[in-house]
Amino acid sequence: MKVLKVGILGLGTVGGGTYTILTENKAVIEKRTGCSVEVARILDRRKKEGVPEYLYTEDPDEVIACSDIDLVVETLGGIEPATSFMLQAMEHGKHVVTANKAAVAANYQKLTETAAKNGVQFLYEASVGGGIPVLTSIQNELQGNNFLEVMGIVNGTTNYILTKMTEEGADYADVLKDAQAKGFAEADPTADVEGIDVANKLSILIALAFDKYIAPTDIPTTGISKITKADIDAAAAEGCKLKLIAHAKLMEDGTVEASVAPEKIPFAHPLAGVSNEFNAVYITGDMVDELMFYGKGAGALPTGSAIVGDIIKVAKTK
Ligand code: HSE
Repeated sequence: MKVLKVGILGLGTVGGGTYTILTENKAVIEKRTGCSVEVARILDRRKKEGVPEYLYTEDPDEVIACSDIDLVVETLGGIEPATSFMLQAMEHGKHVVTANKAAVAANYQKLTETAAKNGVQFLYEASVGGGIPVLTSIQNELQGNNFLEVMGIVNGTTNYILTKMTEEGADYADVLKDAQAKGFAEADPTADVEGIDVANKLSILIALAFDKYIAPTDIPTTGISKITKADIDAAAAEGCKLKLIAHAKLMEDGTVEASVAPEKIPFAHPLAGVSNEFNAVYITGDMVDELMFYGKGAGALPTGSAIVGDIIKVAKTK
């Protein structure tokens, strides 16, 4: 049987979820790809129970420059050194799969160009909407459309906080701690609550849906840290829920208007029913009309599921 050797940079929440899926669902992955996907090396100092010690290294070159590895999974998070590691891995002829929205959004052009130049695949489905296969759909089944509008709830932490504040009158700081404990939040949750994580994801959605690169730092961004129970009640009195929305719209002059901000979403709109750590991306195409993708936007296994989907795309080409 063919073998695809995988190196993982960072065995935290998402890297750990990826390892679990590759191990527990090994048989079904083999059946569907005709390829044995084997984790050959892991860069991390922390050792996880159940993961053989001999797989670990503290030297990134043993993953990104090792001739034995076919594909590198980057789940370190943060822009650097993650971006440099991904670029080096591609230059060494390795396919790269990542969940790292900050790195992809900040260095989208450099990463995609380097992959093309080196004839390798660069796949990042897990970077937006966790387990929801929205990027693949935009890049494949929906390619016959001009996209007119994209609206997304794409941060599990803030949607969890807003849901608990709305439904249970919970305190902002308490729910944030709860979201961190559940593994939804970033290492520094400022990126979640101030909308930075959403701006990163919106930059990626815009690049794919509108073929335009807008840097996340150029997207006007407001988070939820100043939202109070009074704001939530005022929205409810108008028949709406407050949701942190990534919003991009094609304007008549061909430009794309983008924003990240809390928006009042009418109770009857499908996005109003998206609760807790669930995410949804609501897309309008000129031919398909309105579509909504819905699923778990954060957490080890949903995000790992998207990473493994990308690994499988590569395994099928082996
Ligand atoms: N912190 C992110 C979230 C993780 O809460 O959605 C998934 O990108």
